Amino acid sequence: MTTEIPAIQTRNLTKIYPGFWNTQSVTALQNLNLTVRRGEIFGLLGPNGSGKTTTIKLLLGLINPTSGEADLLGQPAGDQITRRSIGYLPEETYLYRFLNARQTLDFYGRLFNMNRAQRVRAIDFYLDFVGLDPAVRKRRIGTYSKGQARRVGLAQALLNDPDLVILDEPTSGLDPLGTEEMKNLIIELKRAGKTVLLSSHQLADVEDVCDRICILYRGKLEVEGSIDELLEVREVFTVEGRHVPDELQARMVAMLKEAGVTDVVPGVQRGRLADLFKKLVLEKRASEKSGAAK
Ligand SMILES: Nc1ncnc2c1ncn2[C@@H]1O[C@H](COP(=O)(O)OP(=O)(O)OP(=O)(O)O)[C@@H](O)[C@H]1O
Ligand SMILES: [Mg+2]
Repeated sequence: MTTEIPAIQTRNLTKIYPGFWNTQSVTALQNLNLTVRRGEIFGLLGPNGSGKTTTIKLLLGLINPTSGEADLLGQPAGDQITRRSIGYLPEETYLYRFLNARQTLDFYGRLFNMNRAQRVRAIDFYLDFVGLDPAVRKRRIGTYSKGQARRVGLAQALLNDPDLVILDEPTSGLDPLGTEEMKNLIIELKRAGKTVLLSSHQLADVEDVCDRICILYRGKLEVEGSIDELLEVREVFTVEGRHVPDELQARMVAMLKEAGVTDVVPGVQRGRLADLFKKLVLEKRASEKSGAAK
């Protein structure tokens, strides 16, 4: 049996940012031991300043560890050949303001030694994939909204068809629909056999897409495991219905209490703001599309 090489493995990975003459050093990451298996979506969570971006930069070899080591796809972090199999979306997308989306991706395609035909094919494919409005593609990036720039950043991270995709807060700056689309894109990447490591503060989204997660706190790994293991099933029985008469609601609550059921919480649900937002935007988009078709 061949033992599978993990996508990411760290051993006692530690980063202390040195202080200067009047500032203290910062221990950003302490003895991180982490394994991300091939083909999984792994979430790196933790409050602001807990070491997520530091971890990602160490994995990419953008900064050097103080001690410990990391392997990606079986090779030491920073290995130049392995780098070609890794896609990276930085926490803040830095793009050249005077190029448009297609020119930007063309530039990166050249860096990856793609020929003209490969570039043309990949650029359109990934701009479609990330859902960048075709009307926007020819405009200078300096005029893009945050979410539009984020999408170009993601297309750039995917351009070389990487095996391992590292996304630092992929949904930051995206509107609720953009966030949902990003979630679907990440699931799509997994389907295509890729491994995804992402950091995020959007816990509901992480819960939906990640197979496993870890939580960092002050640079230390505090929790690690699969979403299913970590989130126990709460034994809460729920029934929903529309137009339940007040008198019936009261009787149902009384019945439950009489039967010794604890924590009975009756309530009437309002619609969700997220649903209202989504409905409006989807309707607008559909009417724009049908208007454009006429
Ligand atoms: N270049 C640096 N020099 C000194 N300290 C740094 C440097 N970069 C990061 N830090 C510190 O290291 C700690 C971890 O920062 P990091 O950016 O990894 O956090 P994070 O988990 O990504 O936070 P966020 O959720 O805000 O993005 C913080 O205390 C931060 O101030
Ligand atoms: Mg960060």
